Amino acid sequence: MAIKKLSKRDSTIEIKQNNVILDEDDFIISKTDINGNILYCNEMFSKISGYDASDLIGANHNLIRHPDMPKLAFKILWDLIKEKKEFFGFVKNLIKDGSYYWVFAYITPDFDNNGNIISYTSVRRKATQSAIDTIIPIYKLLIDAEKSGGVEASFKVLNNYLKEHNTSYDEFIINLQKGAIVWVFFLIKVQMN
Ligand SMILES: Cc1cc2nc3c(=O)[nH]c(=O)nc-3n(C[C@H](O)[C@H](O)[C@H](O)COP(=O)(O)O)c2cc1C
Repeated sequence: MAIKKLSKRDSTIEIKQNNVILDEDDFIISKTDINGNILYCNEMFSKISGYDASDLIGANHNLIRHPDMPKLAFKILWDLIKEKKEFFGFVKNLIKDGSYYWVFAYITPDFDNNGNIISYTSVRRKATQSAIDTIIPIYKLLIDAEKSGGVEASFKVLNNYLKEHNTSYDEFIINLQKGAIVWVFFLIKVQMN
């Protein structure tokens, strides 16, 4: 019998305004194939998301996509990592019971000996409250723009915001997290290889 793997939010999950806050030393790690299907997750991932590891492995990462996330955030993510670059971003994730948690995420491609992408790895930690407070209204603006004009419209909104603040996407995001322990992500990633 074929086992149906989970993907995308089960529409019967009732979205709750219940914020689950990570501890300072919690690190959530996952590895996906090139299509975003989960190959590995650490215990913290399973604990915070509310899913058994056996449900997560093989499921698409969009299983924990929260409806408050703009499409543009994931477009930026995939465009960068497919180009063999790294991604930093703030992500609101959905828990199985409808609650949510915010993370500061770092995602990078993994390469074979010939430099081809074979998988992607993500390391995440607690997002700072000031970063969350800044990003919530921006994500709202992006989602509103997407409702009327799609990702093209939200891309314009984000670019205007970055221009007004004289910054780039990466600089803006890393400064929001105050650059704190970004290097730890790198060390964890190196240890995993
Ligand atoms: C390594 C890796 C980690 C990811 N982590 C998350 C995550 O924590 N939350 C999330 O919503 N999407 C994550 N994504 C992005 C998903 O693959 C997907 O693009 C996103 O959930 C939007 O899904 P949708 O386009 O089907 O709506 C991750 C992707 C990769 C490659």
